[in-house]
Amino acid sequence: MTVVPGQAADQLEHDFPVQRTCPFAPPAEYEKLRDEAPVVRGKLPGGEVWLVTRWAEARQVLGGATISTAPTTPGSPVPLMSAEPPTPEILDEQARQSHGLFIDMDPPQHTRYRRLLIPEFSYRRIKEMRPGVQATVDRLIDDMLAQGTEADLVEAFGLPLPSLVICQLLGVPYSEREFFQSRTRRMVTSPDEADRIAAIGELREFLSGLVAEAEQAPGDDLLGRLVPARAVPHEDMVGMMFLLLVAGHETTANMIPLSVLTLLRHPDQLRRLLDDPGLWQGAVEELLRFHSIVDWAGFDRTATQDIEIGGRRFGAGDGFLVLGASANRDERVFPDPDRFDIQREARPHVAFGYGVHQCLGQNLARAEMEIALRTLFERIPTLRVDTPDEELSFKYEATIFGMNALPVSW
Ligand code: HEM
Repeated sequence: MTVVPGQAADQLEHDFPVQRTCPFAPPAEYEKLRDEAPVVRGKLPGGEVWLVTRWAEARQVLGGATISTAPTTPGSPVPLMSAEPPTPEILDEQARQSHGLFIDMDPPQHTRYRRLLIPEFSYRRIKEMRPGVQATVDRLIDDMLAQGTEADLVEAFGLPLPSLVICQLLGVPYSEREFFQSRTRRMVTSPDEADRIAAIGELREFLSGLVAEAEQAPGDDLLGRLVPARAVPHEDMVGMMFLLLVAGHETTANMIPLSVLTLLRHPDQLRRLLDDPGLWQGAVEELLRFHSIVDWAGFDRTATQDIEIGGRRFGAGDGFLVLGASANRDERVFPDPDRFDIQREARPHVAFGYGVHQCLGQNLARAEMEIALRTLFERIPTLRVDTPDEELSFKYEATIFGMNALPVSW
């Protein structure tokens, strides 16, 4: 933390990002920042930004109609994430890779893309998918049980489940999982920007081939339904598929092992869930709130007009990072926020974001988590993690938090 004498409290600069040090809590600094002010000054490697620390202001910024999410908006914090300004080559490549990435677009452009996908992720459509998800979960558990009395839950269950589900939904061959999972891993963990960009390029090229195939012979999947309508050009369709494939497996894959560990470490609450399966829905919301694995990733925003937030005025070009993991521990909304409690009112959390960019796949993610966790604990009641937490491997360096491995036995 950099303290400049004479600065007002809310102008203190805080070095950012800060890493987690505990698997069950956001970075310890967040509580201090939240106490200090709803919006505090942060220092990124390449410049300054406003950090949004509390729930109400987080929703205001994420839901603000005069707040942009495009990394090209002047003042965006995105280029400040690296110490060196991006080279012209990197900027060119990023522009090429931005086609169809509606998570980085503002309305009305964003609306056009998102609207095309809404029917694919509606509550009704996901309800229809539940038996398929259940069958996949059962098959993965059968395989685990057939292979002995121990497994790595990330490798055997957490990662394959959402990958299989999203592959089937989109029409991406699951046999290519090594390829897309490793590219995704590089995108979220590589410290080298050029390497991250190369990984994105390789993944886009692979998806471009699949879109081209669907243009010739559409199958019974999302690609097959969307491509023939030619609602968007080829490169945009590639970008949309890229977003769905990455967002659809990486996040849920991190949540499942973390959730299993958390429930095993709270056996009284796990017992309540096994006695009353009606509690699973609320438990999933609490797990999402408690871990807030996405935190500020994707929550970069820029004001496009004057706006008041947390009693302070901001102008066009002011950049923000919303600390989702801090907002979800805001004691003003979640009493005793550091306590894990499956029966609390966790639903207003911002783990899926808020506003027009709120997670498109949230119904699917909820269904996958609920079915996976319930079935796993029902079918393997003796499931346990013998390794102490300090010896487990967590993704402290990655932008999206999770576990590298989770050794379980039964
Ligand atoms: C536990 C799992 C998940 C978490 C925690 C999560 C979290 C998030 C968050 C925080 C955002 C908002 C980003 C922003 O405001 O810029 C988001 C957006 C998005 N998510 Fe998820 N997500 C999950 C699972 C999924 C799944 C399974 C899919 C399915 C394909 C998906 C697809 C998307 C898409 C397409 C967007 C962009 C929406 C838009 O910009 O309109 N997510 N997600």
